[in-house]
Amino acid sequence: MNITPRVEVCLTESLRKRELGELCEAAAGAISNGAGFGWINPPERERFERYWRGVLVIPERSLFVGRLDGVIAGSVQLVSPHAQKEAWSHGCQIDTHFVAPWARGYGIARKLMEAVHLQAKKANFRVINLSVRDTQDAAVKLYESLGYIRWGTNPKYALVDGTLVAGHFYYKSFDRE
Ligand SMILES: CC(C)(COP(=O)(O)OP(=O)(O)OC[C@H]1O[C@@H](n2cnc3c(N)ncnc32)[C@H](O)[C@@H]1OP(=O)(O)O)[C@@H](O)C(=O)NCCC(=O)NCCS
Repeated sequence: MNITPRVEVCLTESLRKRELGELCEAAAGAISNGAGFGWINPPERERFERYWRGVLVIPERSLFVGRLDGVIAGSVQLVSPHAQKEAWSHGCQIDTHFVAPWARGYGIARKLMEAVHLQAKKANFRVINLSVRDTQDAAVKLYESLGYIRWGTNPKYALVDGTLVAGHFYYKSFDRE
């Protein structure tokens, strides 16, 4: 009997109520575990659901979700520049990339990034940018293994429980791929 967990990732344009709940749970788990993105504490459920619904309707944001055995366990967003930002039209941004602690180590984060890269190339972006807290060792290892190049460090990148934490800035070029 094959008991290898099933990993799926997909670009998502809508979320059913149950899926929205799974996404909130997964993100809250990652935040409580010390996730490296914007929140320090998980917001209350209603506000969190509003946030994800907002992501779905912002034209510049593409939401990818990762599932483990059919349950949403992680996510990432690809953010395109606003049309007004002509000089930056060649580059997109990674935002809010996480996997719930219970679903880590199965390759979901890597698959999410690979899906984002495909989408970015399809949209003819030449560069993809991201930033990450210095404390996020697993994420740093993953991004560097995917060919992201560190171009700078901000020693005052994030304020976490009253302490300033450094953060690193990365880009990945698609030009020679
Ligand atoms: C970083 C994170 C997304 C990885 O999720 P994951 O699904 O467990 O990662 P994967 O199973 O896809 O592993 C991919 C790679 O990540 C790195 N990695 C994952 N877990 C690691 C760990 N505990 N220690 C070191 N490297 C690790 C490895 O390079 C791994 O590649 P390998 O399996 O070929 O060695 C997850 O740990 C997380 O959500 N962290 C908190 C949020 C965060 O830091 N987000 C990034 C900034 S926004």
